[in-house]
Amino acid sequence: MTDVEVPSAGAVLDAPRLLLRPWVEADAPAMFPAFSDPEAMRHWNTPLVSSVVEVASAISRSRAASPDMHAAWLAVLKRDGRTVGFVNYHRRDVQGRCLDIGYLLARPFWGMGLATEAVSALLSHCFGPLGVLRAVARVHPDNVASLRLLARLGFQPLPASSRSEDAGDGLAAFALDVLDQARPDRRFP
Ligand SMILES: CC(C)(COP(=O)(O)OP(=O)(O)OC[C@H]1O[C@@H](n2cnc3c(N)ncnc32)[C@H](O)[C@@H]1OP(=O)(O)O)[C@@H](O)C(=O)NCCC(=O)NCCS
Repeated sequence: MTDVEVPSAGAVLDAPRLLLRPWVEADAPAMFPAFSDPEAMRHWNTPLVSSVVEVASAISRSRAASPDMHAAWLAVLKRDGRTVGFVNYHRRDVQGRCLDIGYLLARPFWGMGLATEAVSALLSHCFGPLGVLRAVARVHPDNVASLRLLARLGFQPLPASSRSEDAGDGLAAFALDVLDQARPDRRFP
């Protein structure tokens, strides 16, 4: 169980087995195992961390960002309060009504459908209260689990990005549009 004090600001997201709440610096020890795991971080876009303090700094920077740009949620199991991982959005374009999403679960929680739940809850928040029209995920082509997750959620491949900052990053972009949410092959929990 967690005894972390969480500020009341920021949306709490609900999923069948998970609660997602804005993360706080005190969550750093619970997130350290995932952020220091070479397997979980293999396709992540920041280096492995080597200390809890580094995780706390990353959470601080995340929390200092404007929700117009970025926000992140810790995912905890409703059953016993264990930390499963986190989800975020970033590169939000409020005018363009689009954003990128990210997600990372600790290895003991892989393969149980929990990312499907966590990312679905994030997408419901984005397409709902945030008024987003398009969510984008950028994935390394070798990241089979992430590719399967996105396919399951109904994401479609985008043409190679024209954004100069993306050039050469080797990532493939996938998008889910608000209008595609109701497609019958989309398997939200
Ligand atoms: C990607 C990740 C979030 C998936 O989490 P998860 O909880 O295991 O995913 P789910 O159980 O909800 O499964 C989603 C789909 O991925 C598939 N999947 C999960 N792990 C897989 C694996 N190791 N190999 C192949 N497929 C896998 C599932 O079978 C399911 O697909 P299906 O419905 O077609 O069967 C998790 O592996 C992770 O945190 N990886 C490290 C961080 C990362 O790479 N983040 C994404 C950066 S773009």
